[in-house]
Amino acid sequence: MRVQARALDEEDLPMLRAALAAAGLPTDDIDQPGREFYAVLDHRGRTIGYGGLERHGAAALLRSIVVPPRERGRGQGSVIVETLEGEAAKRGITALYVLTTDATPFFARIGYASIDRASVPAAIAATSQFTTLCPATATVMRKRIGP
Ligand SMILES: CC(C)(COP(=O)(O)OP(=O)(O)OC[C@H]1O[C@@H](n2cnc3c(N)ncnc32)[C@H](O)[C@@H]1OP(=O)(O)O)[C@@H](O)C(=O)NCCC(=O)NCCS
Repeated sequence: MRVQARALDEEDLPMLRAALAAAGLPTDDIDQPGREFYAVLDHRGRTIGYGGLERHGAAALLRSIVVPPRERGRGQGSVIVETLEGEAAKRGITALYVLTTDATPFFARIGYASIDRASVPAAIAATSQFTTLCPATATVMRKRIGP
């Protein structure tokens, strides 16, 4: 699937907020600094879903990955993650972390490994996703990217 990422700006946030809320993902902090959100578009310019990066040095939190419910299971989620990995690598990020309550099998299939919360860098552990927005029972996963 040939796709491109379009960085979202402030006026796109209500649309993103609606998609995240519908999927039960956190929305409270999406307008805070340090987050970059993208719409991923297919070759016809149609949005296949959204995703975001929250950078902390050489590490980033991969977050807010969402595909519309009726379109799941066709590879779009994997393409979105792959696209964000490309954006992250371009910025010199070498490790991506993700918190998920029920999409662990999805991330495992695309190279993310479950890790102990104690091995998460302090800056990532201090993000609002870690401290407040996601439940303490969520699984933390990591993938190393780049050279
Ligand atoms: C997770 C998500 C982005 C995957 O999108 P998708 O387009 O369905 O992903 P793909 O088609 O690339 O991969 C689908 C595979 O992942 C598995 N998968 C996806 N979500 C899953 C979940 N919640 N639990 C178990 N498996 C899941 C599917 O079973 C499928 O595997 P299969 O082909 O063997 O059946 C989508 O389900 C979604 O938007 N979920 C709600 C938001 C969310 O949980 N985001 C992740 C945390 S940021």
